[in-house]
Amino acid sequence: MKLAILGFGTVGGGTADMLVKNAELLAARAGEPIEIKYIVDIREFPDSPFADKIIKDFSVVESDKEISLVIEVIGGAKIAYDFTRRALLAGKSVVTSNKELVATHGAELLAIAKEKGCFYLFEAAVGGGIPVLSPLTNELGHNEISEISGILNGTTNYILTRMFSSGASFEAALAEAQAKGYAESDPTADVEGHDAARKIAILGALASGKLFSADHILTEGIRGIRAEDVAAAAKIGYSIKLLGRYLATRSGDLFLLVAPFMIPAESPLSGISDVYNGVLVRGNFVDDVMFYGRGAGAAPTASAVVADVDKIARGVAQRPLFANAESDALTDISFFSARRYVVVEGVDANAAQIIFGETEPLSSEENAFLTVEMSEDSYLTRVKRLEACGGSVVSHIRLYR
Ligand code: HSE
Repeated sequence: MKLAILGFGTVGGGTADMLVKNAELLAARAGEPIEIKYIVDIREFPDSPFADKIIKDFSVVESDKEISLVIEVIGGAKIAYDFTRRALLAGKSVVTSNKELVATHGAELLAIAKEKGCFYLFEAAVGGGIPVLSPLTNELGHNEISEISGILNGTTNYILTRMFSSGASFEAALAEAQAKGYAESDPTADVEGHDAARKIAILGALASGKLFSADHILTEGIRGIRAEDVAAAAKIGYSIKLLGRYLATRSGDLFLLVAPFMIPAESPLSGISDVYNGVLVRGNFVDDVMFYGRGAGAAPTASAVVADVDKIARGVAQRPLFANAESDALTDISFFSARRYVVVEGVDANAAQIIFGETEPLSSEENAFLTVEMSEDSYLTRVKRLEACGGSVVSHIRLYR
């Protein structure tokens, strides 16, 4: 089997490395050697051991009949989209780690793959090295999935872990994540929750058969989390994690959201620290299943990319399928209900209690409290009332249950 890698960055380099280092093992499993014929990148890599394979022109791959599989690890949804479509239309299977492309054009690309009798697989797009998409579609596909809650972004989990363990501010923890090479120089997609939104869109699509645009997912990042909030949560046995959540209730509601949640210590999601990812899946017969591992990095992500290559080479790949969903197939997020941690200023504790109803005070230094369960709509109505009284919300974090 001869393949091409599109993009020789971190994941492309890790994938090439694994295909070479584990070549014997992979050949024994597939019954034939798996060979990298081309690596497509516009940059020069004269000192790379793969220098003789690097080409600039994708059309060479597209028209080479020997190439049956293409690994797309360019990222983004522009060139990667064009190359993926063209590869699939030429009957070549495509394996990717590109969550943005799958979350944006996955339904269309899967349909092309089906029509052409090839595969479009993306295990590496969610949870890095953690095998989660394949178990969700295969071993758990016959369960009705009522919940997927995941710590799906390593960078933000590292930042929140540092804020928890050292009391650092968000800015200081972000700078630390950047210095360690975890966060990008432009960390927007991570800290604003967009990366997690793409990942929960993909998980939700595999669970429901419907791909919701990330634009329709309520997405809140972690920029507003203060060291005081992390400390207040810790005091009552909670940690704060950025969660991507898919919830399908018995009454037929379907919610998708990304937001920081306060998580009680007894939840298995609470102990997932540093750059690790964790995904909890709840099925109607299996109950809770947890997936845990490295959600990012060259080697773990390469492991997931090569897992898909291996499945195609062994002839055991399954074709996931989902369709684009109408935005109204999601329940209006204003009905999403949760207990809430709220910090207010500008009004006294009595007024806050009258506005927010029954509350559990948390701090003597700040007007911080936990509310009873209330919908987004009800919460926002109370915030308006607070503002009309000259107060404002300093912090608001939903509680996980
Ligand atoms: N920036 C992502 C993260 C990389 O921090 O999890 C893996 O998708």
